[in-house]
Amino acid sequence: MGKTIIISNRLPVKIEQENNELVYKASEGGLATGLNSVFKQGNNLWVGWPGLAIEKSQEQEVHSNLIKQHMKPVFLSSEEIEDFYEGFSNETLWPNFHYFNQYTVYKEELWLAYQRVNQKFAEILSEELEDDDTVWIHDYQLLLLPQLIRAISPNATIGFFLHIPFPSYESFRLLPWRRELLNGMLGADFLGFHTYDDMRHFLSSVNRLAGLGNSNGTIKVKNRLIKADALPMGIDYEKYAASAQDPETLAREARYRKSIGTVKLILSIDRLDYSKGIPQRLRAFELFLSKYPYFKEKVSLFMVVVPSRDSVSKYKQLKEEIDLLVGRINGQFSKLNWTPIHYFYRSFPLPALSAFYRISDVALVSPMRDGMNLVCKEYVASRLDKKGVLILSEMAGASKELSDAIIVNPNDIHQLVEAMHKALTMPEELQIESMNSMQKSLKRYNIHAWVKLFMDELANVKKEQSHLKTRLIDNQLSEEIKHAYKQSEERLIFLDYDGTLVGFNENPDDSKPDQELIEILDYLTKDKNNHIVIISGRGRQSLEEWMKPYSLDIVAEHGVWIKRMGKPFKTFMKINASWKKETLSLLERYVNRTPGSFVEEKDYSLVWHYRKVETGLGEVRTRELTSHLKYMTANENLDVLEGDMIVEIKNSEINKGKATQKLMEIYPEADFLLALGDDFTDEDTFKAMPEDSYTIKVGTSASEAKFSVNSYKEVRKLFNDIIKS
Ligand code: UDP
Ligand code: G6P
Repeated sequence: MGKTIIISNRLPVKIEQENNELVYKASEGGLATGLNSVFKQGNNLWVGWPGLAIEKSQEQEVHSNLIKQHMKPVFLSSEEIEDFYEGFSNETLWPNFHYFNQYTVYKEELWLAYQRVNQKFAEILSEELEDDDTVWIHDYQLLLLPQLIRAISPNATIGFFLHIPFPSYESFRLLPWRRELLNGMLGADFLGFHTYDDMRHFLSSVNRLAGLGNSNGTIKVKNRLIKADALPMGIDYEKYAASAQDPETLAREARYRKSIGTVKLILSIDRLDYSKGIPQRLRAFELFLSKYPYFKEKVSLFMVVVPSRDSVSKYKQLKEEIDLLVGRINGQFSKLNWTPIHYFYRSFPLPALSAFYRISDVALVSPMRDGMNLVCKEYVASRLDKKGVLILSEMAGASKELSDAIIVNPNDIHQLVEAMHKALTMPEELQIESMNSMQKSLKRYNIHAWVKLFMDELANVKKEQSHLKTRLIDNQLSEEIKHAYKQSEERLIFLDYDGTLVGFNENPDDSKPDQELIEILDYLTKDKNNHIVIISGRGRQSLEEWMKPYSLDIVAEHGVWIKRMGKPFKTFMKINASWKKETLSLLERYVNRTPGSFVEEKDYSLVWHYRKVETGLGEVRTRELTSHLKYMTANENLDVLEGDMIVEIKNSEINKGKATQKLMEIYPEADFLLALGDDFTDEDTFKAMPEDSYTIKVGTSASEAKFSVNSYKEVRKLFNDIIKS
C-alpha cells in the first residue's frame, strides 16, 4: 500500500519569527487541529505552507526540520501570500462561500495568483507522488489542485474535502471564475462536505455550470465516475477527554478559578473572523445584562479571540470593532470586583483550552456561518461531569449533529439573550441529559471514524471506476466485435434510437438521422446478411417516416408495435388504453403548472417531457408527478418510468424484451446477435438475449449489458470501424 499525502494550504505547524529566530508552533483552525492527530499515526506526508514568508537562505533549514516530521513545505513569497492567501482565498472565496458577498473582492490579478500558487502546489506534490499513493486535498485555498494533479497523473487516487460551507448556487454564480473553480474540484475522485446542504449546493452548481447531473451524488465526468458525499468531520474525542483530566489542566483550572472568583462563565472561543459573529455575540451579552440585571456580578463572558488573517482589511476592521465593543460594555457594567468580559486576543495551548472548557458553565458558539465548528465539539468532549450547556448557531455545520444543544439564529439578538438565560438557569438533570446524548454521538463519529469513512468512500469510487473500465469497450474489444461481425453469416442487430444512435434534443421531433447516421444505416441495411431492428420507445409516426429509406424492422412504443420490412405496423398483443384519458388530463395539469414541459401522446403510452423546464423545477415536479401517478395507477397494471428528462406511463405487459423475443423467433438462424441501448427500458432487451450475444449499454450506470460505451458518438465509431474494415 502506498502512502497518504495530505495537502492543505496551512501545515499543522506554523513558523513565526521571534527575536531573529524561527520558532515552530502548532497552527490553529479546525483543519490543522482536527487532522493533526490522525496524520501522526500512519505512513503519511503532509504538504503545505508553514505560515510565513521564509527567507531564501533559510529554506533549506526549514525544509529539513519539517521533513523530519513528515511535512514538506511549500514556500510562498510575500507577494504570493498577499495575492493568493490573503487575496483570492480570503478576500474572494472566503466571503463568497460564507455568504458575505458585500465583502467579496473581484480582482483579476488575485485570480492569476491563485492559479499560479495552485500550480506550484501541484508541482511540489508531484515530486512526491508515486503510483499507489492516495492524495487527500483540503479546503478552499486549493480548489484547482485536484484537476492539476489529474493532468499530471491521470490515474491518481484523489480525495478532496471542503472544510467551509459550499454556498448556494445563488452565491457561487457571482464569481467570474466559477466554472474554472468547479472544474478544478471535479478532478477529484471523491469530494467530501461537512453537511448535506453543502453537498447539494455543490451538486446543483455542477448541474447548472458544468451541465452534469448526478445520481445520489455520483457524477459522470467524461469517462470517469466521481462521487460527492456529506461527511461531517469529528474530533479526536479521547484526546480532549484525556486532556480534560490532565494534571496540568486541573492545575490551570484551579488557578483561573482563584483569580476569577465564583462567578459563572460563558465561554466564547474563535479565530478573529467576521463569519464567527463576535460583535453580534457581544451586543447580545450587553442586552442580556440590561434585561436580566440579576446576573450582574454573577456571570462573565470569557472571550478568546485568536489572531487570524490580520493583514486583510476586513479582519483589521473587525478587530477594532470588537475592541470598541468590549471597552464599551466593560466600561458601562464593570464593578471593582467584577469584569463582565474577560477578553484575550491571542492563542492558547491545549491544557489552557481544556481548562477553559472545564471551567465554563455555558459555551456560546454563535457563528453567522461556519463549515463545521470544532470548538463546540471540543467543549462537549471536555465536560467529564456532563454538566454545562452548549448554545449553538444553526448556521454552523455542527448544529446538524448536535441537535441537543440550544440552537439559535445568530441574527436574532433576542433569541440569543433568551438562550443565555435558559442556559444559565437550566436544571442539572437536563444539562446531563443533553450532554450525554451529544457525547455519545461525538464519541461514535470521531475523527478516526471520519478518516476511515472518507478513505473507504474514496477506495469504493476507485473500485467502481475500475469495474467500469473493464466493461468499457476499448480497442481490443472493439476488434473482437468487428471480427465476430465479419465472421458471421446472419446477423440480428437491435438498435435503440434516442441516446443510442442520436443525442438528445430539446424537441424530440428534431432528432432526425443526420448525415453520419444515414451512412451507417445505409451500410448496415444494404448488407443482405443483416437484420436490423430499430427498437424504440417512440411512437410509430416519426420512426416510420425517418426509417422509410431503409430495409429494416421497427419496434415502436417499447414493443406495442412491430413493423416488418415493407409491411404496416401491427400490434402483437391486445392492449388496454382506457386509462389514457384520465392520465392525460392529469399530465395536462402538470404542463399548465410547469412552463417548458409538454406531453407526448402515443397510441398506448403517455410521456411527460421536462428537458426545457428550469433546472431543478423539473425534478421537483417529477417527484410530485410520479407519486401522484403511482397512487392513481395502483390497480391499473401500468408502469410509471422515469427516463432522461421524461416520465413515461405505459402498460406493464409491454416491454422491449417481449418484442426482442418475438424477433429472435422470426430470425432463428442468426449467429451474431448485438443489442445497443441507453436507458432502463433497454435492460429488458439485454435480458432477453442469449448469453453469447453482444449487449452494449450506452452510458455508465449499472446494466445487464456485458459491455458499455460512453455515448452515442462511440456507438457510431464502432459502426464506422466496421464499415471501414
Ligand atoms: N484553537 C487553538 N488555540 C486557541 C483557540 C482555538 O488551537 O487558542 C483551536 C480549537 O481548539 C479548534 C480550532 O482552533 O480546534 C478552531 O476550529 P473551528 O473549527 O472551531 O474554527 P475554524 O478556526 O476552523 O474556523
Ligand atoms: C478555517 C479554514 C482552514 C484554515 C483555518 C485557519 O478552518 O477552513 O483552511 O486553515 O480556518 O485559517 P488560516 O487562514 O489561518 O489558515
